[in-house]
Amino acid sequence: MKAKITVVGSINMDLVTISNKVPKMGETLLGQDFLSNPGGKGANQAVAAARLGADVKMVGAVGNDTFGKDLLRTLEKEKIDVSAVEEVDGASGTATILVSQGDNSIIVVPGANEQVTPDFVERHKDAIKDSDYVLLQLEIPVESVEKAVQIAKENDVKVILNPAPIQKLSDALLANVDYLTPNEHELELLVEGRDKKAILEKVIVTKGSEGLIYYEDGQEVSVPAFSVEVKDTTGAGDTFNGAFATALSEGKSLKEACLFGNAAGALSTTKLGAQAGMPKKEAVQNLVEKE
Ligand code: RIB
Ligand code: NA
Repeated sequence: MKAKITVVGSINMDLVTISNKVPKMGETLLGQDFLSNPGGKGANQAVAAARLGADVKMVGAVGNDTFGKDLLRTLEKEKIDVSAVEEVDGASGTATILVSQGDNSIIVVPGANEQVTPDFVERHKDAIKDSDYVLLQLEIPVESVEKAVQIAKENDVKVILNPAPIQKLSDALLANVDYLTPNEHELELLVEGRDKKAILEKVIVTKGSEGLIYYEDGQEVSVPAFSVEVKDTTGAGDTFNGAFATALSEGKSLKEACLFGNAAGALSTTKLGAQAGMPKKEAVQNLVEKE
């Protein structure tokens, strides 16, 4: 059976500049390349899951600008159900990304994503109710994330939250999430002032080229990364989340879903742009079996 996944979250246009050097404030440099690519953590998760064969619905907003039209078209091309994506007044979300020597820095301006309010989520609650898994991140207002989690819980829908970009989260929200997928830095902030044990039970800590760890009966389990030739790591975490959700909803074990997610995340880094390298299921399976 096809996995039914609903992503509630952000949709951005990524404006990527490639430059050998990073300018100081006030300085002008000539860069090497510029690309505008569809991105946003929510849309990235949705595209990753759809390419892997999941039945994906997106809940989110684009602006009524040219970016908005492009972003919507991209989602449709990936066979994502966009009936719960609204075009709202104002600018679409953007991420200005500077890639230099393999590293990147990003400024996200939420734009339309800010208009994904709790009422907005409530309007589209059927999309959540009808799914096996709900995937979330933190590029829409946190109250809206809380609303989505609450609707999911009331309807026995499993919840995966990637707490990025990290911010303060309520105990109630964390209690209702089934899986949290922070990186090491985000985990540190998540457990601050909290009962670490309760959090660790639901945490999958992604560590980039070092793979990931999770906890089983208090014991650390590590799942290795796959080594590939890296071009751009933007969106690798989102690809992991989309793949992880797809694998779990197909009934794979936690360990298998982690391996599958790691392989998908690795493959996504072999092309420039968040969504360009996101693999199809066969490529992921091949990589998993090869190791
Ligand atoms: O996780 C990568 C994403 O973060 C990019 O696509 C960019 O839009 C930022 O939101
Ligand atoms: Na990529």
